[in-house]
Amino acid sequence: MGHYLVTGGAGFIASHIADRLVREGHQVRIFDNLSTGHRRNLEAIGGSFEFIEGDVRDQSAVRAAAQDCEVIFHQAALASVPLSIKDPVQVHDVCATGTLNVLTAARDQGVRRVVYAASSSAYGDRPEMPKRESHTLQTLSPYAAAKLAGEFYCESFAHCYDVETVRLRYFNVFGPRQDPKSPYSAVIPLFVTALLEGRTPTIFGDGSQSRDFVYVGNVVQANLKAAFTPDVSSRVYNVASGERVGVAEMLKQICDILDVPFAPEFAPPRVGDVLHSWADISETQRDLGYAPEISFFEALKITVEAYRDSLSSNCLV
Ligand SMILES: NC(=O)c1ccc[n+]([C@@H]2O[C@H](COP(=O)([O-])OP(=O)(O)OC[C@H]3O[C@@H](n4cnc5c(N)ncnc54)[C@H](O)[C@@H]3O)[C@@H](O)[C@H]2O)c1
Repeated sequence: MGHYLVTGGAGFIASHIADRLVREGHQVRIFDNLSTGHRRNLEAIGGSFEFIEGDVRDQSAVRAAAQDCEVIFHQAALASVPLSIKDPVQVHDVCATGTLNVLTAARDQGVRRVVYAASSSAYGDRPEMPKRESHTLQTLSPYAAAKLAGEFYCESFAHCYDVETVRLRYFNVFGPRQDPKSPYSAVIPLFVTALLEGRTPTIFGDGSQSRDFVYVGNVVQANLKAAFTPDVSSRVYNVASGERVGVAEMLKQICDILDVPFAPEFAPPRVGDVLHSWADISETQRDLGYAPEISFFEALKITVEAYRDSLSSNCLV
């Protein structure tokens, strides 16, 4: 039985993918440089696995990590729009060149399939809603451009070489272990930890901007289906819940769960942020059999509880 390589496995999403693979009895190898990931995420994985501390920009290290692998779940990235605006070259090197390194390693080591963590940032701020995979793309930040470059390399490798690739365009993923302390933290961990610590959450813009929030457990399911479903090589699929929620509405729901009043601060919108994001997931459902298992509100409750537990035990989720 081949190994499963999970790049970025010390990070939020990939540690959940590795966790599921380990629990299902697979041989898992994690490759991460621990830049935004954490050892505590590795410690949360329920079973044994191999860990290689390495950088996706280091071609020979990636090639060695891909040896004897059947599938690579390529999740490593600098996943931040603001960081990419500050340092586009670094984000390009990790997200675009790093993906090219993973693909060449896969080709050279006879890997069957690479599943790539693509991003809904590829849709930009165009008016068509909900977003379908065939819609015209628009890259409003260097992050979006670098992630899309990774997508294009995936598509080209599936055509040119004997390696299958499937791209999953994640929308706004949330759940336990998403880092609330990163300077580029996502909105749900920021809101939840602010409220748990008695601080006032800040909404950038008027709060009417909306997102298709998807629970990390549903993203794990999509990755496993993308790895094992036949005849989907070179395809791209949205991974989302298929429903949109306003950012102010989402904060109200968190306030309800925590039983605190809804009283945010408002600040000007941030450069590079899109106004609305909402996915059509019908192709993902049809081709991969993807079926989100947990509703938004249930997942929000699980997430809030996980942050509450970790704050009370003084360690982060
Ligand atoms: N979180 C979201 O909502 C979201 C949405 C769309 C796409 N994605 C994509 O999903 C993937 C995972 O994102 P996440 O939210 O879990 O972020 P994360 O920062 O928690 O995880 C990324 C992991 O990659 C590792 N990494 C970064 N640079 C590396 C390098 N040069 N070499 C090796 N490892 C490196 C980090 O240490 C970290 O463990 C990324 O590819 C991201 O672009 C995330």
